[in-house]
Amino acid sequence: MRDETAADGQPRLAVVGSTMIDLIAYATRVPNAGETIQGDEFRLGFGGKGANQAVMARLLGADVAMVNTLGDDVFGDMTLRNFEAFGIDTDHVDRVPGSSGVAPIWVEPNGTNRIICVAGANDAMQPGASESAIRALLPLHVVVGQFEIPQPVTAAAFAAARSGGAVTVLNPAPAAEMDPALLQVTDWLIPNEHEFAGLAGASSDATDDEIATFAARTRTRLVVTLGPRGAALLGSDGVVHRVAATPVDAVDTTGAGDAFVGAFAYGLALGLEELRAVRLGVRCASDSVLRPGTQTSFPDRERAHGFLDEI
Ligand code: RIB
Repeated sequence: MRDETAADGQPRLAVVGSTMIDLIAYATRVPNAGETIQGDEFRLGFGGKGANQAVMARLLGADVAMVNTLGDDVFGDMTLRNFEAFGIDTDHVDRVPGSSGVAPIWVEPNGTNRIICVAGANDAMQPGASESAIRALLPLHVVVGQFEIPQPVTAAAFAAARSGGAVTVLNPAPAAEMDPALLQVTDWLIPNEHEFAGLAGASSDATDDEIATFAARTRTRLVVTLGPRGAALLGSDGVVHRVAATPVDAVDTTGAGDAFVGAFAYGLALGLEELRAVRLGVRCASDSVLRPGTQTSFPDRERAHGFLDEI
């Protein structure tokens, strides 16, 4: 990897991905069809898998740029201010007429969530713009993408990233069929166990054989996140290494997968040994489920830096 270290000595990352405003309702159970129930609490927060991953990498110290499109509504204004508060570069966040992305979320007492994403302006992103954004941002260590924006947009950004020597990390979430053109320019694939089962036609146990077979088929490096069971990395030695999650009483699992991806991408960009980058991801994700909200649940700078010393 070339030396793309920022002036402050930190690695440079770009996230080409979504922003959402999360509308989170906490209730003792979810309603049945046609039923209305009383909730216990409501939180409005900043989300979107792309934005969450950018924030987690930034909290660990990376120099992070976001590539996204917001609407011209109040949610767009709030999202820009949130990125600025974290010190995330927004030079490549565009605005279009219409609504920004929103995500109504239901969370039950055991922390499990159900999410509906309404893409809004995220769907207005264009391949040409994402490619130019990445070219302007190079040199970069790592470029991260997900499935909440059109896949050709991520494919164009990843192709530009690779041609500039950056490593590409794709979180294929929410589950969808993968565009072969995107897969071709992906170095690391990070599905959760459900996405993995769908993409690989495998069991949700994600056995070692299933992981190795799928990585051979996609010709990518592979990490499968396994919720409370941690994560599985297919090492460069061809062996599947499993990292257990810290046992915790989860209050809200929203965004835990994004904490993993942001922290893992930061670890890779920093040049950590791969298994240590997975441990950092698992540590940040396990910690995030202890607090409610999405980005608000992530470990703060001090705590996140402590994990770097522990792994
Ligand atoms: O992964 C959690 C995220 O998924 C939420 O922030 C929500 O916005 C959806 O994108």
